[in-house]
Amino acid sequence: MLNTTSAFIASAELINDAIPSVGPDAVAISLQINGVTRTVQAEPRMTLAEALRGPLGLTGTKIACNRGACSACTVWLDGRPVCSCMMLAIEVGTRAITTIEGLAQGDTLHPVQQAFIDHDALQCGFCTPGMIMSCAALVEHNPEPSADDVRAAISGHICRCGTYPHVIAATLDAAKARKG
Ligand code: FES
Ligand code: FES
Repeated sequence: MLNTTSAFIASAELINDAIPSVGPDAVAISLQINGVTRTVQAEPRMTLAEALRGPLGLTGTKIACNRGACSACTVWLDGRPVCSCMMLAIEVGTRAITTIEGLAQGDTLHPVQQAFIDHDALQCGFCTPGMIMSCAALVEHNPEPSADDVRAAISGHICRCGTYPHVIAATLDAAKARKG
């Protein structure tokens, strides 16, 4: 039987076998972003949010708390909203990333983007890209959301300007327009 130390060493070896170590210098990281493969040189410690805003130049994604508490940095991973400050760019692998820059279809805004404009659902706008990504994911997966569904979808988002009532109205209208 293995003692605790031997078991720890054995499991550490298993982990080391499974995950090749890279870094600390920059390595090539390929990401599928808004339907395009982009390769950047980035240190393995770089978060997805930092990679988007830095080497990838996609500054629509915002960083506020940088610790998973405000959702300003929300993007989609395979269509589901995630906080991009809480994962490393190198962890993303082949999963499809969608940022606020990839939400419109050509010149046509996503219904949630249009509804945010129509309902004045922003003031300073700092939380807005993340809010839109979560609300758009909601209407993509639930064509008839209730106001409570919208509240749940944005429950992790902090808006210092207090635009929540407008965000809820905009998202309900966007769902109707999308069904429409
Ligand atoms: S910046 Fe990522 S959750 Fe706040
Ligand atoms: S509109 Fe200013 S933080 Fe939300």
